[in-house]
Amino acid sequence: MATNMQNRRIVLANRPKDTASVDNFRMETVPAAEPAEGEVLVRHRFVSVDPYMRMRMNDVKSYVPPQALDQVMGSGMAGEVVESRHPGFKPGDTVVGSGGWQDFSVLNGKLLRKVDAMKLPLEAYLGPAGMPGVTAWYGTLKLIAPKPGQTFVVSAAAGAVGSVVGQLAKQEGARVIGVAGGPDKCRHVVEELGFDACIDYKAGNLTADFAAAAPDGIDGIFENVGGAVLDAAMRRLNPFARIALCGLIGSGYKAALQPIADATVLLTCKVTLTGFIISDHPEHFPPALADLSDRIASGKLVWSRTITEGLENTPAAFVGMLSGANTGKALVKVS
Ligand SMILES: NC(=O)c1ccc[n+]([C@@H]2O[C@H](COP(=O)([O-])OP(=O)(O)OC[C@H]3O[C@@H](n4cnc5c(N)ncnc54)[C@H](OP(=O)(O)O)[C@@H]3O)[C@@H](O)[C@H]2O)c1
Repeated sequence: MATNMQNRRIVLANRPKDTASVDNFRMETVPAAEPAEGEVLVRHRFVSVDPYMRMRMNDVKSYVPPQALDQVMGSGMAGEVVESRHPGFKPGDTVVGSGGWQDFSVLNGKLLRKVDAMKLPLEAYLGPAGMPGVTAWYGTLKLIAPKPGQTFVVSAAAGAVGSVVGQLAKQEGARVIGVAGGPDKCRHVVEELGFDACIDYKAGNLTADFAAAAPDGIDGIFENVGGAVLDAAMRRLNPFARIALCGLIGSGYKAALQPIADATVLLTCKVTLTGFIISDHPEHFPPALADLSDRIASGKLVWSRTITEGLENTPAAFVGMLSGANTGKALVKVS
């Protein structure tokens, strides 16, 4: 069946020296592969663009191997089963998995997750009901565990992870301050996501803005950005504060060093700082996904997405996401 189908795929053509650009990628067309025993052929409906992919474009030692040149860019996808040689799947099933930036993938059935596209829109399973949502859930509820009345900060607050983080912290009873780029995103964070305040880091008044937004100090930071944003928040930490270090996208993941301006506060405030990579915590995925999809379906957790149309526009969607073009989860609609 698959032999007649053509598969467009986007590969990494070369590595960026600094900022990633669409010229780092190349699109090719090849015949779609046939599933072997235990495998499933999936037609991609959505593919994901995520910050970690920028890190994988560098040829450096990290928590995952670098993206190989001339190979399909690895990514999450949400799609529909076309052909199955695995007993757990049949044509028409909606699934998510690591399919990459292409029209079709052939995946081991053991690595696919069946999802209910009647409960939530299919693309939600790449966002708040997928890896970014679990990242938010784990870092917020398990690492920081905010208490009622405490002050909680999250950066990249209008993004896929940050938007979920702030809402979860708010539902735990914390006062929640977001940090985002520009007045429109800050308005979205306060008016649509329900945060108590939002600091526009591009306005250039980080110290004064944190002082105004957090008069009683800060008890928890969910850090997605690093650099000046983290430094300014750390200056207001309270004793026994917790920091969940989730990402450092402020650097653009260009493989440069990521200094913290003053480590003294970590000592004097007896801070717990925990760096984490969500793939190290598979045991939290089932409970987190069940909780998150229930909150979304019941309207307790709101979410947005920025959808780019067409597989061929995936590199542009990725580059745009890295510079803040997205509100909520950045996705590409393939078919
Ligand atoms: N540890 C883990 O397991 C894990 C898992 C998933 C994600 N993450 C991390 O979580 C963070 C958010 O990821 P996401 O998928 O939710 O992406 P996202 O927030 O939806 O999109 C990235 C956002 O980063 C912000 N940004 C870009 N450059 C910036 C800069 N120089 N300074 C401040 N903000 C900047 C932009 O928002 P503005 O318009 O507000 O600038 C952009 O929209 C990233 O750091 C990512 O690496 C970590």
